Amino acid sequence: MKIVSVVGARPNFMKVAPFCRAIKAHPGIEHVLVHTGQHYDVRMSEQFFKELEIPTPDINLEIGSGTHAEQVGRTMIAFEKVLKKEKPDWVVVLGDVNATCACSITAKKEHVKCAHIEAGLRSRDMDMPEEINRLVTDRLSDLLFTPDRLSNANLVAEGVSAEKIKFVGNIMIDTLERERTKAEVLDINLIVRDNLIDELAGRRLPELGDRGYIAMTMHRPSNVDQRETLVPAMRFFLDEVSKERPIVWAIHPRAQKMLKEFSLWDEIVANENMVLVKPLGYHAMLRLNMGARLFMTDSGGLQEECCVLGTPCLTMRWNTERPITLMENGGASILVGNSVAKIRDAYRDQINVGRHGMRPELWDGHAAERIAACLVSNK
Ligand code: UD1
Repeated sequence: MKIVSVVGARPNFMKVAPFCRAIKAHPGIEHVLVHTGQHYDVRMSEQFFKELEIPTPDINLEIGSGTHAEQVGRTMIAFEKVLKKEKPDWVVVLGDVNATCACSITAKKEHVKCAHIEAGLRSRDMDMPEEINRLVTDRLSDLLFTPDRLSNANLVAEGVSAEKIKFVGNIMIDTLERERTKAEVLDINLIVRDNLIDELAGRRLPELGDRGYIAMTMHRPSNVDQRETLVPAMRFFLDEVSKERPIVWAIHPRAQKMLKEFSLWDEIVANENMVLVKPLGYHAMLRLNMGARLFMTDSGGLQEECCVLGTPCLTMRWNTERPITLMENGGASILVGNSVAKIRDAYRDQINVGRHGMRPELWDGHAAERIAACLVSNK
């Protein structure tokens, strides 16, 4: 049996690592790993392959940045050639990035069976490019590997037949469980010093202790692309939060670009409690999360990691495709959108609350093994 699996952007890499290992344990399977090249910076891509011991991709499509249509279109054209040459039995796609959608469409048009890891998540927000990617991929896939039972219910409600849906648990938690001991021993102050953005080089930094700082990431177009949303949120972080505690912000290229465009960059860089670091590697980010008093993020994966680690998480979105991580379902996350009043209220509510980790069913570190076994039995 031959499998072609596809990754393209950072959130795919922590999911494909356990998949590669689990597939390797089945000697009868030939596995070709394709990187579309959507993320290409060392810090957005190569670093994760090294840290998580992901095999070097057999093929890199070198798609790079661009509009959504450019990324999806270029990926489809390049991936069609791969499929014509490799003739796999299965294409396996992960998550909800542009590579996921582009390669599932191409697979089905080439009459190749497609399996989707992390199927069934729904934000019901059609303004999110990821939601479009999820809907398209799930509609086309022959096997849908779901992380939780809410996702099963979403798929059933959309008319997906039960035999295609395989509840396997959360593959990202496989990586968290495997890597957490390596993260635990890292020194948070050293992580910060080693990853500071160039503008902060040589700066005296606040001493960071566990539960002494806020961690932050923010990159979604809905949060960073408009002045009306980004400026008030930044005013709250600068004028209120940073006066109380350091904020360690792992800054995405898109957010950095927009802060410069809206003339906020110089003030942020000048603030001694705004500790700006470059995009962090997997272990560094996990360590940052383990020591944070609170996490403010618009990422999908971080909501899940905060849920298992128990870090109170203010999710800067109006909806989530991962409701299982919400406090009302026992998790650690609260939706605060981009309204400063909501962010402030939730911040005041949660800042003195301790950690309460929650582990949803089958988030046990063995999802990839269940996926590999299922693919083998469905050949
Ligand atoms: C993508 C995913 C998103 C995920 C995010 C995590 C889609 C639709 N979105 O969004 O779900 O949460 O990755 O990071 O696939 N850039 C670099 N270096 C790189 C890659 C990108 O500097 O290696 C810059 C580019 O200038 C680009 C911007 O970052 O304009 C955004 O990159 P892009 O690949 O378009 O999507 P993300 O916002 O990263």
